[in-house]
Amino acid sequence: MANIGVILMIFSLIIAMSSVHAKSQMSKQEEAWFRNLCRGKKKVTKLHFYVQDELSGPNKTVYEVSRSNITSISPTSFGQVRVLDNLMTAGPDRNSTELGRAQGLITFADLKESALAMNMNFVFTSGKYNGSTLCLLGRNPILDRDRELPIVGGSGVFRMAQGYSISNTYSYDPVADYGILEYTISVTYVKESDDEKLTEFHFYLHDVVSGRNPTNIPMAMANAATKSPTYFGLIAVMDDLITEGPEPDSKVVGRASGLFGSSSLREVGLHMTFNIVFTEGNYNGSTLAVNGYNPFNNRYRELPIVGGSGVFRLARGVATLENVWYNSTSGDALVEYHVMVLHY
Ligand SMILES: *[C@@H]1O[C@H](CO)[C@@H](O)[C@H](O)[C@H]1NC(C)=O
Ligand SMILES: *[C@@H]1O[C@H](CO)[C@@H](O)[C@H](O)[C@H]1NC(C)=O
Ligand SMILES: *[C@@H]1O[C@H](CO)[C@@H](O)[C@H](O)[C@H]1NC(C)=O
Ligand SMILES: *[C@@H]1O[C@H](CO)[C@@H](O)[C@H](O)[C@H]1NC(C)=O
Ligand SMILES: *[C@@H]1O[C@H](CO)[C@@H](O)[C@H](O)[C@H]1NC(C)=O
Ligand SMILES: *[C@@H]1O[C@H](CO)[C@@H](O)[C@H](O)[C@H]1NC(C)=O
Repeated sequence: MANIGVILMIFSLIIAMSSVHAKSQMSKQEEAWFRNLCRGKKKVTKLHFYVQDELSGPNKTVYEVSRSNITSISPTSFGQVRVLDNLMTAGPDRNSTELGRAQGLITFADLKESALAMNMNFVFTSGKYNGSTLCLLGRNPILDRDRELPIVGGSGVFRMAQGYSISNTYSYDPVADYGILEYTISVTYVKESDDEKLTEFHFYLHDVVSGRNPTNIPMAMANAATKSPTYFGLIAVMDDLITEGPEPDSKVVGRASGLFGSSSLREVGLHMTFNIVFTEGNYNGSTLAVNGYNPFNNRYRELPIVGGSGVFRLARGVATLENVWYNSTSGDALVEYHVMVLHY
């Protein structure tokens, strides 16, 4: 456990160092752009690409993180959790143009058939979508020919995206344990309707990894995580306090509860899946669901808000974040969030 603590501390250090230039507030232009996007004509974007599923060998891009006590005797590997960072290519050939990486967490979550609960991001690394992401969340019955999964959000040019993905196994080589998956994605953008509200707010998240009462605790790790410079395969659970102001005794607004996994082989990047739970004021009892990719080496960090409850029913939006301070000795951090959501 000591090792995990050290890793998490280094992990937090990298997070803090690389977020120095992050921009936490949207400019007036961005706000206008956001409103226009939401009010504009519905635009549909279609994408087609392949994902290289390299399941074994020295260059494998899929790792087991944890398993249940019946995974090894289950015909469907029930309870296994994997982290993946697969290459996305323009054509089926792995040498064809790189478009991005398919990164995130998958869980073997069906006792009877081979079906995965997928929670991942398509992180574009070239072309016109470079730097943008799309978030996929759904059930994947991998033995079916065509599988449809929801696209629940995105960032960059895909802000406020929603859509669906159809995938099939283009080829699978059982000797190399290498699959090529074909994806066709259609996304449109949430449109603001007359009865919707736009709510904006700021808050500060207190991320405590040190001391007797940490609120961010590692819970599972791929064997490779200890050797990986990006801690690929480390998963942590968090229940961080959020407050109105930056001071530790500032008024409590709620908690940020959920998990994140290090899902990138190339950079320190986390797949985040958590809920903002309000415990005070007008939003008391309401929640916002956040799901997306947090690339710490990017100047600008942005996470999609993909849903909500209570006051935030049917919410869609964007959260931008920046570290206010970071203590490299303790590993603790204070992160400023700026959130814009459309809801009813
Ligand atoms: C693994 O990657 C290295 C470097 O790209 C390459 O030289 C090697 O051929 C790859 N090995 C396999 C089995 O694909
Ligand atoms: C797995 O754990 C559950 C709950 O602790 C227990 O009831 C079950 O017997 C275990 N199964 C095996 C195969 O060990
Ligand atoms: C990819 O390119 C390498 C060398 O550039 C070649 O050895 C390999 O066979 C190519 N792979 C495929 C699937 O075409
Ligand atoms: C993608 O964007 C990053 C960051 O702006 C840049 O460093 C990189 O060169 C771009 N890649 C391509 C292939 O355009
Ligand atoms: C928030 O809501 C809970 C549950 O309804 C209630 O117990 C609590 O007193 C409320 N807190 C405030 C500050 O209104
Ligand atoms: C950073 O954390 C260490 C260890 O908990 C503590 O001794 C130190 O005072 C902290 N530094 C600041 C600037 O808060």
